[in-house]
Amino acid sequence: MAKAWGGRFHQATDTRVEAFTESISFDRRLYAVDIRGSMAHATMLASVGLITAEERDQICSHLDQIGEEIAAGQFTFRQDLEDIHMHIENSLITRIGDVGRKLHTGRSRNDQVSTDLKLYTRDAIDDLDRLLADVQRAFLDRCEADAGVILPGYTHLQRAQPVLAAHYWLAYVEKFQRDRERLSDCRRRVNVSPLGAAALAGTSLPIDRQMTARLLGFEAVAANSLDVSSDRDYLAEFVFCLSLISVHLSTWAEEWILWFTTEFGFLRLPDAYTTGSSIMPQKRNPDVLELIRGRTARVTAAVPQLLMLLKGLPMAYNRDLQEDKLGVFAALDALRPCLELAPSMIAGAELQRQRIEARLEDGFLDATALMEYLIKRGVPMRTGHETVGRLVAHCEARGCRLADLPLSELQEACGLIREDVREVLGAANANRALQSFGSGGPQSVEAQVETWRGRLAGA
Ligand code: ARG
Repeated sequence: MAKAWGGRFHQATDTRVEAFTESISFDRRLYAVDIRGSMAHATMLASVGLITAEERDQICSHLDQIGEEIAAGQFTFRQDLEDIHMHIENSLITRIGDVGRKLHTGRSRNDQVSTDLKLYTRDAIDDLDRLLADVQRAFLDRCEADAGVILPGYTHLQRAQPVLAAHYWLAYVEKFQRDRERLSDCRRRVNVSPLGAAALAGTSLPIDRQMTARLLGFEAVAANSLDVSSDRDYLAEFVFCLSLISVHLSTWAEEWILWFTTEFGFLRLPDAYTTGSSIMPQKRNPDVLELIRGRTARVTAAVPQLLMLLKGLPMAYNRDLQEDKLGVFAALDALRPCLELAPSMIAGAELQRQRIEARLEDGFLDATALMEYLIKRGVPMRTGHETVGRLVAHCEARGCRLADLPLSELQEACGLIREDVREVLGAANANRALQSFGSGGPQSVEAQVETWRGRLAGA
């Protein structure tokens, strides 16, 4: 096959080199943004007089057609045409000859591919933001369904203090909110137009970069053409954002996998989201959650992949950069279905209230509340800590709970203890006693729910 262009060459490319250098197998998904970018570019070329209005219209209407053909699966992709940019331009030239040959005026594939990637990333960010809001809303809705349910809060996976179930749900809402904020911050840097930086140096032609930026919805124009040609910071940031989302999903999945075990028995998952075993008839496995946890590998892999790719590249464009898309697309493809599945799983799961309650008094969830009772009675914190520690050891030896101890034994440990100590003993009392801002007690949680109802109403 002859070169797609190339007065410069005397020899056709080795087909193995074509196979080695092509990116059409993975960058074809950029076709729609590539066409969007080309239309803006053609509009600008006409506005500055580099092509006529008729030529612009001809280019745009044929680009439209090409887009429709690709969308309908009627477009033929060829390895020798290397990438999506060349496919579209080549097809345009085949259709309209010399007019098509004018489209690439004042631009290079270097600024073109970055423009495409930025448009694609920007769309993906907006899409992810919607999906994350859906996940947040699913957790928020659970707060009502699980109102009043108290769960053991854990540190080191050991029972620690009693919190309302809604406190757990809202903890996830917070994490996904930070994810959304990170994405929106990343979007500000994505939303700077590379188009018109040309190969690396800009151009001697009178292009209008502000105009293409405006047409494509970019908020600013990148100020240094050398930088544009080499810049993939925005992709590195983006895949980091994706990674943290997947880590948050994985944390949730892991927690629910534990809660779904017979050992915990906190949670029932809908049949639609569990699978059986090929040999053990009794099994119901949380495969979906496990795969959400497992996908984290694919998503987070994109971060080191991209950083390794970028490390040590001299200015400006180098062909290595073509590989930037692989990790980004893989990460996105791995993450999106997790976010799509999460809301219905979150909504469909049920807390096993009776089983949770039956064991809620295990593990001394009220020990810290008792210590804080002592502090309120004037005992120094460290002394209170020791006193309660001794009482817990005493209970363990006797196989009872703090609330089972008679007042006399409690007073033996600390003379300041009164009958009103009963108000903080037991998991429900210890939970009710939590009152600081952001705590897992009833007032704080109610306030959090209120706040989130407002914040997520329009989000
Ligand atoms: N397919 C290339 C990429 O994705 C497009 C830019 C190619 N530029 C070049 N000068 N070879 O990076």
